[in-house]
Amino acid sequence: ASTLRHGEFVGSLDCGTTSTRFMIFDRYANVIASHQIEFPQYYPQPGWHEHDAEQIMESCDACIDQACVELEKLGWTKQSVKVIGITNQRETTVAWSRKTGAPVSRAIVWDDIRVKNLVTQFENQAKTQGVQYEGKVHKGEDGLVALRKLTGLPISTYFSALKIRWMIDHWPDVKSAYDADDLLFGTVESWITYRLSGGAHGGVHVSDVTNASRTLLLNLRSLQWDPVLLEFFGLKASILPKLASSSEVYAHIAYGALKGVPIAGLAGDQQAALVGNKCLRQGEAKCTYGTGAFLLFCTGEDVVESKAGLLSTVAYQNGPNGKPVYCLEGSIGVAGSAIKWLRDSMFMVQSAADVNTLAAKVPDTGGLYFVTAFGGLFAPYWDPSATGMIIGMSSYTTPSHVARATLEANAFMTRAVAEAMKLDSGVDLPQMKVDGGMTNGDMVMQVLADLGGCEIVRPEMRESTALGSALLAGSAVRLFGWDIARPETLHEVNTAGSTSFKPTTTKEYRDKKWAGWQRAVERCRGWAAS
Ligand code: G3P
Repeated sequence: ASTLRHGEFVGSLDCGTTSTRFMIFDRYANVIASHQIEFPQYYPQPGWHEHDAEQIMESCDACIDQACVELEKLGWTKQSVKVIGITNQRETTVAWSRKTGAPVSRAIVWDDIRVKNLVTQFENQAKTQGVQYEGKVHKGEDGLVALRKLTGLPISTYFSALKIRWMIDHWPDVKSAYDADDLLFGTVESWITYRLSGGAHGGVHVSDVTNASRTLLLNLRSLQWDPVLLEFFGLKASILPKLASSSEVYAHIAYGALKGVPIAGLAGDQQAALVGNKCLRQGEAKCTYGTGAFLLFCTGEDVVESKAGLLSTVAYQNGPNGKPVYCLEGSIGVAGSAIKWLRDSMFMVQSAADVNTLAAKVPDTGGLYFVTAFGGLFAPYWDPSATGMIIGMSSYTTPSHVARATLEANAFMTRAVAEAMKLDSGVDLPQMKVDGGMTNGDMVMQVLADLGGCEIVRPEMRESTALGSALLAGSAVRLFGWDIARPETLHEVNTAGSTSFKPTTTKEYRDKKWAGWQRAVERCRGWAAS
């Protein structure tokens, strides 16, 4: 007879851009068991970035199974996992077959910029043909404004509609599946839920509203796929998943170690991190530094329209009848990926953590600026014509200066979105809550405080993305009495402390550096050949 004990835990499957993790939490947000796997990245041409959706799925299956093995080694039954949530890299576009449940092409990743010509094409279409909004067709610049009002987003390489359009236009297998009504489209949470719940044999094709709000196809206020948008991008509705809230039982796992367990939380990773930080109400903000960096400012039940280049997006919807909560988002395309580039492509360091040591060898960058616009510039610029650029080099420059300039780029990009956030919300963030893999380095944190001029608060518990999806899933079935609509029910969760980093620089110094950065940014714009 088994000597394993039976407990109550919640699982969280975090499908990020470079790795998948499955974490098992207890009611206090302690991580009981976890498993992480990196999966292959494909860069077939400059600016292109693809994933094999089947490999993502395999990594999910293996992470779930391995974390359950670990759980059993610790003396718990795997039936102790009562419910799971899924959180994911957003916008990445997966195309698969209704008949076979298998991908019909590679997935196009969020930071892939192959569709940059489509951006211009659709901008022109919005101006000349116009966009219908509130019963009227808006043309010229108003066409672009109307599209932004409908979706909360600018037309950019970042969002899924352009990627699926490109797939249909350029990949014959996708086109024939589309023509035969065999094509299913989804972002990563949709793909994983479909397969985990049975795939072609009864799998549920669903997407949650946080992920759907990143496609350019969702009406931000009605939270429905919008026929105007589908027509605008020339897409038919039959490829789209059914829409759902971020916290409800969508399906049950059909196989493997957790067969029968409900999937009850779905949210994009940045929105999940907002929930995991318990930033559930208007005015609360966090910035997560992963592959990219994403500053999200909760605006409550109101959609705040950005005038400064931020996105309006869904933060979460608590259950099918819950009112949606919105946020403003400043998306930075490159953060940890610049460090990965220093390690894997430039061979300047052996581990990501070594970047901090290398950068700490010099007191400043010696006038060097590194605009890490590898996939164009995201918020607040939205410029696909920008490219990465290092400027200010001399014979004095060493790898330490480049390492330091990489950390500084991260701080300047953050300042740019924080300033935009201030313009839009009228709120000056006196301190900023941060998390994500890149925040483990103290040097990164100090540079952020020194160039941003605000206090940086780094919680001990930095698994907020996984925790957020666990909270959404637990809340859906009231596990541990959790209910994200009543934050007081979460008072036992994550009570660990935090470390604070305060600026050690003068305002003059910060302003001078900021002016240098802005000059550098101007120079890298327009460099990419169209
Ligand atoms: O929008 C892209 C974002 O969701 C990717 O997140 O953590 O993989 O950088 P991350």
